Amino acid sequence: MAIISNCTASITKDAALALKEGHLVTFPTETVYGFGADATNEKAVARIYEVKGRPTDHPLIVHISSIDLIDKWASEIPEYAIKLARAFWPGPMTLVLKRTELAKDFITGSQDTVSIRIPSHALASQLLKEFESLGAYGVAAPSANRFEKVSPTNSHAVEEELGNFLLENDHILDGGQSQIGIESTIIDCTQDIPIILRPGFMTSEMIESFLSIDLTKLDLESNKIMAPGLLEAHYSPNARVVLNGVPQQGDGFIALADVPTPTGTVRLASPKNNTEYAHELYDSLRLADVKGFTTVQVMPPIEQGIGVAINNRLIKAAFKKKCLSCKIIKIILSVFG
Ligand code: TXA
Ligand code: MG
Repeated sequence: MAIISNCTASITKDAALALKEGHLVTFPTETVYGFGADATNEKAVARIYEVKGRPTDHPLIVHISSIDLIDKWASEIPEYAIKLARAFWPGPMTLVLKRTELAKDFITGSQDTVSIRIPSHALASQLLKEFESLGAYGVAAPSANRFEKVSPTNSHAVEEELGNFLLENDHILDGGQSQIGIESTIIDCTQDIPIILRPGFMTSEMIESFLSIDLTKLDLESNKIMAPGLLEAHYSPNARVVLNGVPQQGDGFIALADVPTPTGTVRLASPKNNTEYAHELYDSLRLADVKGFTTVQVMPPIEQGIGVAINNRLIKAAFKKKCLSCKIIKIILSVFG
C-alpha cells in the first residue's frame, strides 16, 4: 500500500469513494493521523479493530465536516456543548455526547455515548466533505497506530505502523506533519458541566475562561463515564521511557532546549517551548526505536497549558506493564514458597 502524496481533488474523491465502498483510509489531521472507515459500515469498522489489534470495547471517534451533522449522531446535546462546538470546531476537541440510533454498538463499544470531532486539517476536511457528498454521515477513526503504540504524526510513521496490514484498495493519504502532534482533548458532555477525559491542546483553562466556570470544583469521583482505551500503558515505543531519571551512557535524551544534554547521552529532541514539545514528542519517541536505544531519558515539561497533555502522554509511555513471567514466578513462589 503506497503513500499518496500531493493529494489533489480527484485523489481525495477516490479516497472518499474507497471509504464508501468499505475500504480503509488513513488521513492527516492537525493532531495525529487517523485510520478511517465509514462509521456506519460494521465490516469496515471491524477491520480497523483487527488491523490495530485493539479491543472492540474501546470506542472510536466519529469525524464529521460540519456541525450540521451533529444531530445525526448525538442527542440531548447540552447548551454548553453547542457553545464549545461553535467556538472550537474545526479543531483539536472531541465531544462525548448521548448517541442516536445511527451510532451503533460497533463504534461506541456498546456505551450509550458517541464521541464526535470536526478536524481542521484541510485534507481531512476535504475528504469528509467528499465522503458526505456521497450520502455518508461520518468517518470513524482512531489514531493510525497499532494498539498501545505511539500515534503517527506523518504518513511515513503510518506506513511503519500499519503498512503491512493494509490491502490494495485501502489508502494512506499524505498531508505533511501534523501541526499539533498529540491527540485531541476529549470532553465528556453528558453531565451538567464538561469533564475533560483526555487532556490535549485545548486546555481546561481555555474551557473555564470561555464558559466562565470553575472545573477545579469538580467531584471527579462522581464521574461515572466509561473511557476504555484511556489506559495506563499507551503511546509506548519499544525503548524503555524513564521520566526524571539519572541518564546513563548511551541513553537517548529528550528535554526542552534550555536543558543541557547529559554527558554520554544522545539528544533526540530540543523543543524550545511546550508547543514545540508536543509537536516533536511522538517523532522523537519513534526516532529512539529507529536508532535502537534501549532507554530514553525524558525531562517532562512544567504541568501548565499543553504541558498537562504532554505529561499525560509521557506518564503512559513510561508506564511499566507487569510482565507475564514475573506474574508466573510470583504465583509459583506463593504456592511453593
Ligand atoms: O486527535 C484525535 O483525537 C485522534 C484523531 C485521529 O482524531 N483520534 C484519536 O482516537 O486519538 P483514538 O481512538 O486513538 O483515541 C480516542 C480515545 C480512546 O481512548 C477511546 O476509548 C476514547 O477516546 N473514546 C472514544 N469514544 C468515547 C466515548 N464515547 N466515551 C468515552 N471515551 C471515548
Ligand atoms: Mg490512539
